[in-house]
Amino acid sequence: MIRSILIHPDPRLKKVCAPVANIGDDVRALMDDMLQTMYDAPGIGLAAPQLGVLSRVIVMDCAKGEDEEPEPICLANPEVILASDELREHEEGCLSIPEIYAMVTRPASVRVRYVDREGTEQERDFEGIRSTCVQHEIDHLNGKLFIDYLGSMRRQMITSKMKKLKRERSRIRAEAG
Ligand code: NI
Repeated sequence: MIRSILIHPDPRLKKVCAPVANIGDDVRALMDDMLQTMYDAPGIGLAAPQLGVLSRVIVMDCAKGEDEEPEPICLANPEVILASDELREHEEGCLSIPEIYAMVTRPASVRVRYVDREGTEQERDFEGIRSTCVQHEIDHLNGKLFIDYLGSMRRQMITSKMKKLKRERSRIRAEAG
């Protein structure tokens, strides 16, 4: 099921999310909804709080282009256990901050421990865009957005732009309804 994505500013995007106790059908259904919502958007990553669910669950698929096979990954309770000294810069965006992009610097590669869709504990190394993406999504679980890495002036400008966008969207919904 495709669910609606919260747009910044929203208090639910600022919360520290709770760990998932065990992977049951409810968590798997959430992961499936998240993947479907992410592909529909379209985006390469999504965190549960973006759907208003304050659980430590993220999904990703950084395979791009028609030639590459899709590579959906579902991660519960993800945790960075190793980060490279080497950094990488990437122009990030976020489905909760539509049409805004900014350069963010993060470790170029990270090792992440997590629980997969089957409930098995895994460790996996992420590099390049996948490293940026997994760190961006884990930030969401701690109430942190990529604009929090920017200067306060820029962040405030983006936030007022998003407030305006939300007002416009609710006006359109009211007119349609
Ligand atoms: Ni995001």
